[in-house]
Order: sequence, then C-alpha cells, then structure tokens
Amino acid sequence: MKKKNKNNLKAILKEKLTSKELPSLIRGFDIIGNIAIIEIPRELTKKQRLIGNTLLQLHKNLSSVFKKGTAYSGKFRTRKLIWLAGQKSKETLYKENNIRLKLDVEKVYFSPRLANDRLRVAKQVLRGERILILFSGCGPYTFTLSKNTQAKEIYAIELNPVAHKYALENQKLNKSNNTVIIHGDAKKELEKIISKNKKNNPKNQLKFDRILVPLPKCAEDFLDVALKVTRKDAIIHFYDFQKENEFELSADKIKKACKTAKKKCKILAIVKCGQNAPRTYRICADFRVL
Ligand SMILES: C[S@@+](CC[C@H](N)C(=O)[O-])C[C@H]1O[C@@H](n2cnc3c(N)ncnc32)[C@H](O)[C@@H]1O
Repeated sequence: MKKKNKNNLKAILKEKLTSKELPSLIRGFDIIGNIAIIEIPRELTKKQRLIGNTLLQLHKNLSSVFKKGTAYSGKFRTRKLIWLAGQKSKETLYKENNIRLKLDVEKVYFSPRLANDRLRVAKQVLRGERILILFSGCGPYTFTLSKNTQAKEIYAIELNPVAHKYALENQKLNKSNNTVIIHGDAKKELEKIISKNKKNNPKNQLKFDRILVPLPKCAEDFLDVALKVTRKDAIIHFYDFQKENEFELSADKIKKACKTAKKKCKILAIVKCGQNAPRTYRICADFRVL
C-alpha cells in the first residue's frame, strides 16, 4: 500500500470525501498559537467536523479547529468563527519575531500572514526613533518594533476595548518598557496630542519619526491628523487594498493628503503584503514627509 503523506489533509481525507467533494477542500489554513482557522466551502458543510478532527489529529500542537464564519467586518475588523473540533476556547498564545501575543481570535483582529511585513518595517527603524502606530490591535506591530529595534518610544492607539486589554497584557508579557498603549479613536487621540502640542514649545511637542497606518480602505481618512504630528523627514507606512496594476492609486491618495496639508512627500516604495481577493492585494506604501 502506498504510504500516506501524513502532513497532507487532502491525502488523508481522500478516502473519506467523495470525488466531487475532494476538489473543494481548501488546502490552506491559518494557525494562531494552538488554534487552526480553516475555510470550509458550503458543499463541504456536512463534512466540516470530520475535516476539523482530521486537522487536529494531523497537527499535534493544535488544541482546537474553527471555521471562518464570516468575513472581517465592522469597525473592529473582527469575524465570527464556528467551532469544529477540540477545545472551545478562542483565547491563545501566539509567537512570532521574538514576541508573544495573547489574544482572542474572534474578538480581536489578527493575521499571522503579516508577520513578514512587521519584520520588514522593523528592519527600517533607526536607533532612537519615536514611533506611532494607529489601529494597533493587540499589539503585533507594537511589540515587534519594541523587541526588534532600538526605537526610543512607541505609541499605539486602538479602539476595540478587548484588543486594548490584550495589548496591555502583551506589554507585560513582552516586558516592553518603551511602549505607550492608548485606548481610543485614533483621530480623537491625535487631536488631543495636536492641541497639547499647540500649547507647548517645539522642544516639548509630541511628534513622530515614523507612523504606521494599518487600516486598509480607511487609512486616508487619518492622514490629515497623522501629517500634523510628523517630525522632519518622518516616514509613514500607509496600508491600502489595491488591484494588480493599480497600486499608483494609493500614491495618489498620499499625494492628495500631503498637498492639502501643504507638505511635500516622496514615495519610497509600494509593496504587496498580502492578498485580499483574486488579483487584489493588501499593499503598504512607504513615504517620507519632507
Ligand atoms: C486591520 S486591523 C489591524 C490591527 C493590527 N494593527 C494588526 O495588524 O493586527 C485594524 C484595527 O483598527 C482598529 N480601529 C478601527 N477604527 C479605529 C479607530 N478609529 N481608532 C483606533 N483604532 C481603530 C480595529 O479595532 C482593528 O483592531
């Protein structure tokens, strides 16, 4: 008998799914800590528990399997998950890039697929930078930059109270002492900083060398306030969704915001950091505010 490839879900399920069902099985799934999250096409709904249990048997470090119940939605960018196998807890401990993150995979936005982008940004950080992360979630960018760079200070703002609670826990978990974790709306919190800055002399103003704006689709709505707290030559990492061959549309949004703010800018790079739909990408446009 031919030896089964133990690591291949499709090979193991070959005898348990019909020849019509098997091609619908999606190979990829995300692992966050000890939780696997898999997409189950409608035609496989009847076999979803079997698929979940098989995945659990295949990967001994997993304690539970959930299926994607909805797409990311709402202002907190969360999604419903449906339990398939193993334990029912949605809280897990995830490790990447020398950091540990505790989170609830349903109540908090998190994507392990962005680990490389977090490291890409970390590699650009210079010693002594003051960094601002808007939409910081439970802290993946915050603590990656805190642990892997020589940044002086990192401010992080997040609206979702559950994500904020985890960010505070993760601050302790990572023994991060150069981070300031703020709960609130990014625009309102920045307006508070801007109005304090107006009262202070330039030396005492809170301004940043690097700002991350990881809220694709809506990031442009926050560029006006972000541009008011940049130091000279600051770099902004602007996230967006764009179709193949249309990445320049993100550059146009940046140029428009800078023109309105009466600031000059230079686009440094536009990189793909994930795929959102067929031929549509999550991109990051890095630009310098001159
Ligand atoms: C796409 S997620 C990114 C989270 C995190 N940076 C990461 O990479 O995992 C966007 C985050 O922005 C938060 N958010 C949405 N609107 C916000 C606002 N007005 N102010 C602050 N945070 C906001 C959401 O709750 C969510 O956690």
